[in-house]
Amino acid sequence: MNIVEKKTYGDFVVQVATEEHYEYAEQICDEMEASARARGTGIAKRKPEYIRLKMSEGKAVICLTTAGSWVGFCYIETWDHGKFVANSGLIVAPDYRKSGIATYIKAMAFKLSRTKYPEAKIIGLTTSLAVMKINSELGYLPVPFSELPKDEDFWKGCSSCVNFDILNRTNRAHCLCTGMKYEPPKEEKKTEFWDFISQSSIYESFMRMKQRVLLGREEKTKKKAPALVKREMQEA
Ligand SMILES: CC(C)(COP(=O)(O)OP(=O)(O)OC[C@H]1O[C@@H](n2cnc3c(N)ncnc32)[C@H](O)[C@@H]1OP(=O)(O)O)[C@@H](O)C(=O)NCCC(=O)NCCS
Repeated sequence: MNIVEKKTYGDFVVQVATEEHYEYAEQICDEMEASARARGTGIAKRKPEYIRLKMSEGKAVICLTTAGSWVGFCYIETWDHGKFVANSGLIVAPDYRKSGIATYIKAMAFKLSRTKYPEAKIIGLTTSLAVMKINSELGYLPVPFSELPKDEDFWKGCSSCVNFDILNRTNRAHCLCTGMKYEPPKEEKKTEFWDFISQSSIYESFMRMKQRVLLGREEKTKKKAPALVKREMQEA
């Protein structure tokens, strides 16, 4: 299921990526690598084919200028059989940083995650203050690593980071990154149940149908009652 979503902010268009955006995959991977090198951290290396896969699955958000230049990107991944979703690989081209692009991209990735996986906890691991700020605005809270996925593949993503030995030495309890988590609100779960107060018209229809089936005779008698009363009053 591809969710068609597009938002324009001045000269920038933020949208759920599709096959149309395959041509940007190399540029995105190159920038991810260059930025990681500049920050002095390592990141899980992404291949252009993986970025294209995410685009084809409708699990990525891309930002372009209205003229078609690539500006930013992010994709979603699931862990522990869909119990957790991460919005990973956030990257904004250096020329466009600090103008709110990551905020727009993350907002759309968050919405996409909530739509595709409404029950999942949305998590992130980051050293980036910008990302922490954005996550906080979206309702994430800092959590200990024990509240993050147990999935080995999730932690494998850290193996190319220069700080990986810290994570190993502490048995995945601590590292330089901060773990953050968004818990889907409990109220939303309630909508799984029938709120018959707010949907009273449906409830009333259902009750009428039940009465017709189960109390057919009594209902007929009751329906006649007002007419009978009227006639009796006229005759009196
Ligand atoms: C991190 C990154 C995605 C931020 O993108 P951006 O488009 O510049 O971010 P925004 O303009 O939306 O800024 C969001 C908030 O973070 C702040 N911010 C942005 N860059 C910042 C920085 N380097 N240091 C501290 N705060 C920063 C902004 O001021 C803004 O805060 P505000 O809402 O209080 O004004 C971008 O710098 C980048 O691609 N870096 C390299 C890759 C990377 O680090 N990815 C994150 C991996 S977890």
